[in-house]
Amino acid sequence: MAQTKRLLNTVLLILIAYRAYIVVNRPVPTEFTEPMKVRVLDEIGRIANFWMDLSVYFEFNPAPDLVKLIVNFIFKLMLEGLSRPDYNVEIHDDYISGVPVRVFIPKAKTKSVGLPAMIYLHGGGWTWFNVYTYSGYLENLANRTNCIIVAVEYRKAPEHQFPIAYEECISVTWKILLGKSGYPIHKEKVMVAGDGAGGGLAAAIAKRFQKRVLMQILINPSLQFLDFKTPSYRDNVDTIPGITSAKSEAIHWLMYCGVKHQYTPYLVENEHTLPVVKASKYFSFIDSKKHIPLHLSVTNKSSIQTPYFNSTVGHSVQKLITNDTLSPILMDNLQGIPNAYIITSQYDVVRDEGIMFASRLHESKVRVKLKHYTDGFHGFFLFSAGGPFYLKLADKALSDLEQFIHVKVHGGH
Ligand SMILES: *[C@@H]1O[C@H](CO)[C@@H](O)[C@H](O)[C@H]1NC(C)=O
Ligand SMILES: *[C@@H]1O[C@H](CO)[C@@H](O)[C@H](O)[C@H]1NC(C)=O
Ligand SMILES: *[C@@H]1O[C@H](CO)[C@@H](O)[C@H](O)[C@H]1NC(C)=O
Ligand SMILES: *[C@@H]1O[C@H](CO)[C@@H](O)[C@H](O)[C@H]1NC(C)=O
Repeated sequence: MAQTKRLLNTVLLILIAYRAYIVVNRPVPTEFTEPMKVRVLDEIGRIANFWMDLSVYFEFNPAPDLVKLIVNFIFKLMLEGLSRPDYNVEIHDDYISGVPVRVFIPKAKTKSVGLPAMIYLHGGGWTWFNVYTYSGYLENLANRTNCIIVAVEYRKAPEHQFPIAYEECISVTWKILLGKSGYPIHKEKVMVAGDGAGGGLAAAIAKRFQKRVLMQILINPSLQFLDFKTPSYRDNVDTIPGITSAKSEAIHWLMYCGVKHQYTPYLVENEHTLPVVKASKYFSFIDSKKHIPLHLSVTNKSSIQTPYFNSTVGHSVQKLITNDTLSPILMDNLQGIPNAYIITSQYDVVRDEGIMFASRLHESKVRVKLKHYTDGFHGFFLFSAGGPFYLKLADKALSDLEQFIHVKVHGGH
C-alpha cells in the first residue's frame, strides 16, 4: 500500500517536472522582454482552454458560479499578489441607477470643481472577473490618471445575455452624464473605457452618448465576430493560444449572445456566415486590405473567406453577427462619435479590428490616437499595477495613457 502511494507520488512528480520543462522551454516571440511571465500566463490559459474544450465537447456550462469564483480569485491573485500598495485612493461600493458599481476616487485630487471620470467596463469575455478582481489595477489607474473611476459590475454571461450588460452600462453612464451620480465628477469630462470584451461595450456606449462622452479608451477591444480569419486571427493561431485564440473569442461571443457554445468550431472556421451575410456590406467594414495602414500591416496575410457554411449555425447567429451594438466596428456611420484612444497589441487575435476601427474613425474625421505595442499581447495592460506578473511594458503603456489624459483631459500644465 505505502509502496503504491510512493510510486504514484513519484510518477506525479515526474509528470509535473516534465510539464514545467516544456513550459519553460516553449518558444515565444522574441519581442517579449519578459518571456518567462508570458510563458506562465499562457500555460495557465491553456489549462483554462482545456476546460472550455471539454465544455464544448460534452455540452456543459463551463462557467457556473463555483468555477467563476475560483477563476476570479486566481486572476485577482495574478493581478495583485497577496498584498497591494497604498494607492491613496478612496473606494466606495455603491449603486448607480440600481446597478452595482465600485468607485475609485484619488485622494490627492486637486480641483474642487470636479474631476474627470472614467466609466470602466472590465474584460473577461462578458463572463469572467468583476470589479473586485480588477480592484488593484483600477486603484492604480485612478491614482496615475487622477480620474474618478466608476467600474460597472454589469451582469455576466452565460446566465445574463446581451443586451443586459449593455443596458446596465447605459443606465450608469446616463446618470453620471446628468451629474446625478452623487460623486464630484466634471460632467463635461466623462470618458468611457474598457478592455477586451469591455472595450467593445465601451465603444457601443460611446456611440450611444456621442454628443456627451468626451472620449473612449479602448484597450485590446473585441469589436466583431463576423470574421475569425482576419490577418491577426491568422497570425496568432498558435503563438500564445492560452492568452489569445479564435476558440476563446468565439465561445465567449456565443455565451454572451445566448447561442449554443457547441457552435464554436463553426465560428473559428468562418462557417457561421450565410451567403447573404458573406455578400453584405459588413465585410467591407472589416476588410483588412482597405483599412489597415501599410505601416501597421505586420503581415502579408489577408482575410480568407470560405464558401462553406453551416445553415443551422448561420441562421441562429445571422441577426447577432451583423448587429452594430454588439460589434461597433460594423457601424455604418462613424461621424461625430467621441474621440478615441485605442491600444492594440501585436500578439492578439483582435489586433486588426482595433487597428481597422481606428483607421475607419480617422477616415470619418474623428480624432483618434492609436497606440500599437509591437511587444504587447492580449490583456498585457492589466499587469501595470504590480503583482507577480507585473510587466514593465504595461507600466510604460500606462504612462503613455497617463500623459495623454494629462494633456487632453486635465488640460496639462
Ligand atoms: C498616488 O499614490 C501616491 C502614493 O501613495 C501618492 O503619493 C499620490 O498622491 C497619489 N496620487 C493621487 C492623484 O492620489
Ligand atoms: C510583404 O510583402 C512585401 C512585398 O512583397 C515584402 O517586401 C515584405 O517583406 C513582406 N512582409 C512580410 C512580413 O512578409
Ligand atoms: C451544422 O451544425 C449542427 C449543429 O452543430 C450540426 O448538428 C449539423 O450536423 C451541421 N450540419 C452540417 C451540414 O455540417
Ligand atoms: C441590436 O440589438 C439590440 C438589442 O437587442 C436591438 O435593440 C437593436 O435593434 C439591434 N440592432 C439592429 C441593427 O438590429
